[in-house]
Parts: sequence; structure tokens; C-alpha cells
Amino acid sequence: MVWGLDPPVLPAFLKAVSRAAPLIKYLRQLECGGQTHIRLDEEAKEVLRSRLRMRKESTSTPPPLRSQGVASLSAEANPSDRKETTPPSVPAVQAEGVTATEKLASLKSQAENWGPARSLESLREPMVFAVGNPAADLMLVGEAPGYEEERRHEPFVGRAGQKLDQILAAMGFAREDVYISNICKFRPALKNQTTNNRKPTPQEMNACLPFVRAEIEIVQPRCIVALGGTAAEGLLNYQGQPVGRMRGRWHEFEGIPVRVTYHPSYLLHNDSAVSEKRKVWDDMLSVLEFLGMPISEKQRGFFAEK
Ligand code: URA
Repeated sequence: MVWGLDPPVLPAFLKAVSRAAPLIKYLRQLECGGQTHIRLDEEAKEVLRSRLRMRKESTSTPPPLRSQGVASLSAEANPSDRKETTPPSVPAVQAEGVTATEKLASLKSQAENWGPARSLESLREPMVFAVGNPAADLMLVGEAPGYEEERRHEPFVGRAGQKLDQILAAMGFAREDVYISNICKFRPALKNQTTNNRKPTPQEMNACLPFVRAEIEIVQPRCIVALGGTAAEGLLNYQGQPVGRMRGRWHEFEGIPVRVTYHPSYLLHNDSAVSEKRKVWDDMLSVLEFLGMPISEKQRGFFAEK
């Protein structure tokens, strides 16, 4: 047994999550429409009960490593992948509003002057919030905005963003179908900075994490893709682990299954390496399978060795 769920429990966990997610989403929509009570049949009750049981199991095991409870499942083979840290405590954010769109707008306006991030004095002034479908099944989480994202106030609109759009298109998604966010909502500052960017530090990610958590709570994606090692580190509390060790299996954040893959910019730097593209594509095929989306033979064959 390692942190969280025992690997044999994982398939049951994923099944419970994938059965319950559409029902939870539907109930939330009714709630947003003002409905306060609903009669559920036995089958629906059982779906919710097994989801709850799985969630309890994943949180009743050893304490989460982050003080605010960053989740910690673990399908990981090696529990030493996680290092105990005690990041400074950052308050949770409360979204106001009734609909998901209103709640996300409330988060966005709170993020503008978010004290825990601003007080670090290492992040730049413009805030770049998330973008996309507030009811998306798929959420993608990157590390932090760069030069182009800061200029256009939107995540993933530079070269890495174009690569991400291509990956999404190959999966059958338009950019508007999914929800795209970053662990850190501000571009990390550098001395004499022009177009150069740096990765956010653990402190910078920790300061913004309450927003990611609140976004997940509102959007209720059926699964999340962490884009790159830094995003995985911020979300899952893996420290300094190469993506190669984290990909290829499911993780969990706040009860939502998470897949880790390479950052799209890695593919830009390794544009000729078909084998690396295939690794990202394998991760995305796992996501499509989990979402129950149709996969054509052509899609299965992308970047396959000739
Ligand atoms: N890289 C990221 O991780 N996020 C962005 O928004 C852009 C590039």
C-alpha cells in the first residue's frame, strides 16, 4: 500500500469516477438552474454512493502532503516519488455566483489582486486566467503564462499553444471544447526580461493553487491532463520527477483522474523525434479511451513506428 489507493483498487476507482461524472455534472446543472431537490432512482444512488466510497478511500489513507490537502492518489509505483514539504498555508478562494460561468468570472476577478501571489514579488503584473468551456469533460493544466500569453491575456496562445491546439484537433476537440488553465496565473519575472520565460517556483505555484482547485470544483472535468513536469509537480506534489516516470498511469487530484504528459514545448524542441510525439499521443489516446470517445484506426496509428 502506498499513498492513497492501492493499485488493485485503481480500476474500481476509475470506473466509479467515470460512471458518476456525467450524473454529477447533470445534478450541478440542475442546481445552477435553481433546483434544490431531486428524486433519484436506486441505480443513480448506487453510482453516487460508490463514487463517495472511492473518494473516502482515497483520502482516508496517509495524510496529504500539502497542508491544504493536495490530493494524492497513487497509482505510482514508488511512493518515494513524493517528498514531504510544508508549503506556506494559502487561503482557499470562494467563488461567487450561481452558474459555472459566473463562478469562474468571480475567480478571475479575485485572481487579479491575489495577495499570496502578489506578496511574493516575483511574478509579473498582468494576470492570465484560464479559458474554455466551463462544462468541459477535459481540463488541461500547464505551468505559467509566457510572453505571448501575457501580451494576449490568454493561456497557451504562443508556439506551445499552437502545438497544443494541433494535439487537441487530432483528438477531435476544438480549443473551445476543453478548459485550459495554468498552475500559476502570472508570468514569472526575470531580470531584464524581454521575451524569455522561466518556470514558476513551487512557492509561486502554491500561491495560485487555490484557484486551480476552485476551477476544478466548478468545471468538474471528467479528467485532467497535466502538461509537463512542472504542472505535475504543482498539482500532484511530485518533486523533481521526470515526466517519463509519471506518465503512462493515472494519478488523482481532488478525486479527478489525472494523466501526466510532456509539455507541448518539449515537442517543439524535439520536433523531429517521432517517438516522443508518439508518447504524448499514447497519453492522449488513454484520455480519449477514458472519456469513452470514438477512436479511429487512423488516430490509433498516428506517429506509429513504420
Ligand atoms: N506554457 C504554459 O505552461 N502555459 C502557457 O499558458 C503557455 C506556455
